[in-house]
Amino acid sequence: MFERLESVVPDPILGLMAAYRADPDPRKVDLGIGVYRDEHGETPVLASVRQAESALLARETTKSYIGPAGNPGFNQAIEQLVLGASHPALAAGRVRSVQAPGGCGALRLGAELIRVASPESPVLLSTPTWANHTPLLAGSGLQLGRYPYYDAATGGVQFEAMLAALEQAPARAVVLLHASCHNPTGADLTQSQWREVLALISRRRLLPFIDMAYQGLGDGIDEDAFGLRLLAAELPEALCAVSCSKNFGLYRERTGSLHLIGESPAAADAALSQLVRLARGLWSMPPDHGAAIVQAILTEGPLRAQWLEEVTAMRSRIRGLRHEVVRQLAERCPQRDFGFIAGQRGMFSYLGIDAVQVRALRERHHVYMTEDSRMNIAGLRRGNLEYFARAVAEVLKG
Ligand SMILES: Cc1ncc(COP(=O)(O)O)c(C=O)c1O
Repeated sequence: MFERLESVVPDPILGLMAAYRADPDPRKVDLGIGVYRDEHGETPVLASVRQAESALLARETTKSYIGPAGNPGFNQAIEQLVLGASHPALAAGRVRSVQAPGGCGALRLGAELIRVASPESPVLLSTPTWANHTPLLAGSGLQLGRYPYYDAATGGVQFEAMLAALEQAPARAVVLLHASCHNPTGADLTQSQWREVLALISRRRLLPFIDMAYQGLGDGIDEDAFGLRLLAAELPEALCAVSCSKNFGLYRERTGSLHLIGESPAAADAALSQLVRLARGLWSMPPDHGAAIVQAILTEGPLRAQWLEEVTAMRSRIRGLRHEVVRQLAERCPQRDFGFIAGQRGMFSYLGIDAVQVRALRERHHVYMTEDSRMNIAGLRRGNLEYFARAVAEVLKG
């Protein structure tokens, strides 16, 4: 059966990771892989997570099954974090939440539901978008389309072109939107742009599918949820896929959730029953460990306060680095304006150099980033910023 299978080309980021690991040069800089790193280049277990985890180990009495919708305490705590505790859709009983294995699991589960509800609806993705959106969403059998998004000339959003494309979207199309900290560009919608997107989606009767993988790492917990909360409040229906990988540092624990806003409590209940059935056929039940940790953090006052401080520290570090990298690049590459990097949010930005220059950065200076020049800002630290800026300046000289 497997004799005729052809090998697929591995994801280039895996090759990049391997090349970085094999590079013996002590000056090497990894801006490739999309995980948060601290000033020491580590991705540590958060102190709040460690504390919640120890308490959990001490009090856990069973590993028995928990059910396809996951941990109800987690689902309730995370929907309140995402939507805000007093969100009108929650008050109206129109929100249903299902735990999923990471943001990826939530995206896939949402796609499976769309496929059941409206198989002819295409899902429109921003150009560019996170590479894994394609297999996660197309894997359910849905057609994918695109709308323009990143404006390389300004480092911002091509907003008029985006609206014009969405205006042409077929009826009942799904629009995938990044809640904040757009991956890979760092270019986010402003609050007034979110309002315009809302008006268009409402008028054209499209379905927003919002991917929130970086809540708290852009401008703040509430600020980063602005667009998601607005759409969930004003539209009859929405889907939100949430990841706890970055803001709780729970990457390998596979912790996330899917939130469905239905037109009425009864419609939401019916959709929930479908989600539960679909989850049962995909992974049966999500892993509990990370979800139990998040539940403890969000519901126990001191732990929550500690976690909020840790998220603030991550956000401040990223924002500080963005300003510092612009300052260093301005000093060494005055012919080119990199100021857009400071205006962007989250971990990623395109440096805006070509693939040949990216290769030169890697081969001559041991600075690793993907070919499209996406860099993980959190991979920089005070100690290597100057080295990085010098390397970019040399590569730009040719
Ligand atoms: C935009 C976006 N969505 C979703 C995810 C899903 O993350 P995970 O499945 O690891 O929780 C990521 C992770 O990198 C992401 O960048």
